[in-house]
Amino acid sequence: MAVRLVLTLVPLLLLGVHYPWRGASGAWWTLDLALYPDDVRQNVSNLLLNQTSGLGLTDYRYNLGGGGVGVTTWDRAPETPYVSDGVYNWSADAAGTYYLKEAALQGVPVLTLFVNSAPITMTSNNQSCGGDLVTDRIPAYVQYLTDVVSHWKSEGVEFTHVSPMNEPDDTFGSCNQEGMQVVPQQRAEVVTTLAASLKAAGLSTQVISDESSDTILGGNCHHLYDFASAATQQEVFEYGRNLSGGVPTWFTEICCYNAANSNDSDNPLATLTYSSQYDPTMLSGLRMAHIVGIIHLCEDSHWDWWTALSNEIGCTLSSNATCWDGIQSSGLLYYDPDYSSSQNYDIKVTKRFSVLKHFTKGAPVGSIRPYSIVALNAQWNTSSITLSGGGTFELTQPVAMYRTSVTEDYAEVQVPTLSANGSLVVDAPEMSIFTLFFQ
Ligand SMILES: *[C@@H]1O[C@H](CO)[C@@H](O)[C@H](O)[C@H]1NC(C)=O
Ligand SMILES: *[C@@H]1O[C@H](CO)[C@@H](O)[C@H](O)[C@H]1NC(C)=O
Ligand SMILES: *[C@@H]1O[C@H](CO)[C@@H](O)[C@H](O)[C@H]1NC(C)=O
Ligand SMILES: *[C@@H]1O[C@H](CO)[C@@H](O)[C@H](O)[C@H]1NC(C)=O
Ligand SMILES: *[C@@H]1O[C@H](CO)[C@@H](O)[C@H](O)[C@H]1NC(C)=O
Ligand SMILES: *[C@@H]1O[C@H](CO)[C@@H](O)[C@H](O)[C@H]1NC(C)=O
Ligand SMILES: *[C@@H]1O[C@H](CO)[C@@H](O)[C@H](O)[C@H]1NC(C)=O
Ligand SMILES: *[C@@H]1O[C@H](CO)[C@@H](O)[C@H](O)[C@H]1NC(C)=O
Ligand SMILES: *[C@@H]1O[C@H](CO)[C@@H](O)[C@H](O)[C@H]1NC(C)=O
Repeated sequence: MAVRLVLTLVPLLLLGVHYPWRGASGAWWTLDLALYPDDVRQNVSNLLLNQTSGLGLTDYRYNLGGGGVGVTTWDRAPETPYVSDGVYNWSADAAGTYYLKEAALQGVPVLTLFVNSAPITMTSNNQSCGGDLVTDRIPAYVQYLTDVVSHWKSEGVEFTHVSPMNEPDDTFGSCNQEGMQVVPQQRAEVVTTLAASLKAAGLSTQVISDESSDTILGGNCHHLYDFASAATQQEVFEYGRNLSGGVPTWFTEICCYNAANSNDSDNPLATLTYSSQYDPTMLSGLRMAHIVGIIHLCEDSHWDWWTALSNEIGCTLSSNATCWDGIQSSGLLYYDPDYSSSQNYDIKVTKRFSVLKHFTKGAPVGSIRPYSIVALNAQWNTSSITLSGGGTFELTQPVAMYRTSVTEDYAEVQVPTLSANGSLVVDAPEMSIFTLFFQ
């Protein structure tokens, strides 16, 4: 539990930090990174997953592949360990399992296994995209998921959660990625039988799912690519929790936004819409902080970014070696899509990466007392804010303060001194976010 302040001065926002769970997914980029030099792969593990020196993601989402049959995009077609019912090849998907094992080694507390498509003997069109989950094959699918989770447990990698269907309302018929439709009538059976099967196998792994009416879930998940207003989101999430008898709501995917109105193109607090954009700067960083803040107000217990790395950089580095600095993807880190020809194995850190660190570090897992305040200056000029405790709590002297701005990345800066009347004045450079730690 951290200090929670109401929004006081707009556009200088105070974003209380309540929940420790901040994750990202290992979908797709791990296939490319398998072709990178070992030191770069290891560096990316440290950047994202190291709990002390890195971003310290607290949730890593491993994508269990369906074999990629029919998928037209090479790096969105992960291998599957499934050979036939009950027969597995545990050497498959070395690319994805590398980072799964790293996440376990680095002590990431929440490991989620999520599936875009079941193996092809369980889909209506014998492909990893464009079909439906076959009802008669649900028992085989559930056994497969249970066996995969059991296998990884025996290897020292314990999945805390399994998400057996990702965006199940879509078959992903365009086949640019894996996907399968799971119709609403099938969803309860998948969730219920999977939960029972995991339990029977002696596993404590919980099922998380879109199936909001089921009370045995560990988490009730949603993506929010329509960028609804804070008020709408709050209502939807409350409705979800009400329907499920209080199962916590998880926000498990977001990326890819731009201002909905062109007059808001440089406004970090703009109403957003789903859009491809390639902005590594503080503008996109503060928009992310604003989304995290809204989710916080809506009391979601998890917040996961979509792909941790992206090669959709919007420009060609071989024609302009610095083009990825400009507003030209959706990752926290970028890499060159042309790495195989250019041999450019550089990893570009976006401001979203540094901004997210304010939230992973602001509420570490297990923190139980007033601890930190995250605030941001969403103006293109210098500003200051006076924090005062008011009726419900007293501010104390902060012990450390970190700042990300146009020129800084989670840099430790001098703490303001608590004044005699109990208030704190924080000077904030343009477009900056900071975390104050209290004892
Ligand atoms: C297991 O998968 C690996 C990686 O794709 C492959 O090289 C190997 O041949 C497979 N083994 C069997 C027995 O299919
Ligand atoms: C995380 O980083 C710290 C500091 O660099 C290092 O001592 C530690 O070994 C790293 N953890 C892992 C699991 O690599
Ligand atoms: C899928 O494969 C099965 C088994 O080989 C076959 O019986 C069925 O006709 C195939 N279905 C489609 C849609 O190709
Ligand atoms: C959720 O349940 C509470 C308590 O019954 C009720 O006050 C609230 O209106 C419900 N919210 C929604 C969005 O249905
Ligand atoms: C931009 O336009 C939208 C829609 O017309 C409006 O709601 C919003 O207030 C405008 N923003 C600014 C900064 O003028
Ligand atoms: C290279 O890209 C940067 C960032 O977008 C831009 O500022 C610069 O003008 C570009 N250089 C050339 C030669 O186009
Ligand atoms: C890891 O990657 C970051 C970002 O590209 C870079 O700044 C840093 O030097 C790299 N560290 C190592 C040890 O390669
Ligand atoms: C700071 O920028 C805002 C627009 O973002 C403007 O309204 C305000 O007047 C500026 N303040 C100063 C002191 O320049
Ligand atoms: C408390 O002290 C600070 C610093 O001296 C001052 O800026 C602020 O106005 C004071 N607040 C009140 C409520 O007196």
